[in-house]
Amino acid sequence: GDVSGRTAFITGGANGIGLGIARALVRAGANVVIADIREDALAQAKADLAADGQVETVQLDVTDRAGFARAADAAEARFGKIHILIGNAGVGVMGPVLDARFDDWDWGMGVNLGGVINGLVTILPRIKAHGEGGQIVTTSSQSALIPIGYSAIYTAAKAAVLGISEAIRGELAAENIGVSAFMPGPVQSNIAHSGELRPAEYREDSGYRKREEELEKRPVSPLWMSADEVGERVLAGIRANDLYILTHPEFAAGMRTRFDAILASFPDETINQDRAKEIGFLLGN
Ligand code: NAI
Repeated sequence: GDVSGRTAFITGGANGIGLGIARALVRAGANVVIADIREDALAQAKADLAADGQVETVQLDVTDRAGFARAADAAEARFGKIHILIGNAGVGVMGPVLDARFDDWDWGMGVNLGGVINGLVTILPRIKAHGEGGQIVTTSSQSALIPIGYSAIYTAAKAAVLGISEAIRGELAAENIGVSAFMPGPVQSNIAHSGELRPAEYREDSGYRKREEELEKRPVSPLWMSADEVGERVLAGIRANDLYILTHPEFAAGMRTRFDAILASFPDETINQDRAKEIGFLLGN
């Protein structure tokens, strides 16, 4: 649907992909609330967007549930209603599974999955209540479909986010709320600096700290897609209520190989029609 005059709430919108989405939405005439943990980046984003009266910023750690409710209140106080929730805040918690400690798992899952869940629980009822419909966009990752190396924690969260989006799509259609799972490939962003955001309570029992510090020195490849390009992709996906928003066709061959391997793993038995009917019922057909 049209986004002009609607209000979007974007978590992790002060940098990278979230900021690219914010720019695209502002250009399309939407009101945008950028919620992010980084205060300096919020101020910078507000100045950059320079969209008079169309952009509001709010400091939020997406793992803070009370804070999330306050941020949603602030968004509604400013623009009246929230129509579009973009659950995008994420951190690049990456490393070998054998080095992963509980702090790595808890922080990675807390932000990348918990943040999306907190957004749904906080904002979905508000979208339903105003009755004007809306859109949920979750930032999963191409890694949810083909896991990149050393990504056990990251992929666990991103695959869950994809699964949630697929699971709620049918339910929310009845409320006139669309759902899109966004699965970008490599995009130019600030994600290599995620380690700076690791809270003190998740630094003790971590096997990834050294790796995180090294990652921060790695330059962003110019071959990676720009955040503005993916922002426009997401805007098009919102307008079309696409279930899947993808960016990099370079992954298509790998995805086909993966899915063919899954299909080839069914036992070679004839289909039981009664069972098929029952399964159709479970699937909600
Ligand atoms: P980024 O680091 O540039 O932006 C992420 C934003 O989220 C930052 O502004 C950061 O301050 C914020 N953030 C982090 N933890 C937060 C928290 N607890 N509460 C609130 N805000 C928080 O990184 P990027 O790449 O733009 O990431 C955006 C999303 O895209 C993430 O979910 C990431 O996993 C996903 N993604 C990124 C890809 C890439 O290649 N850059 C590829 C696939 C997915």
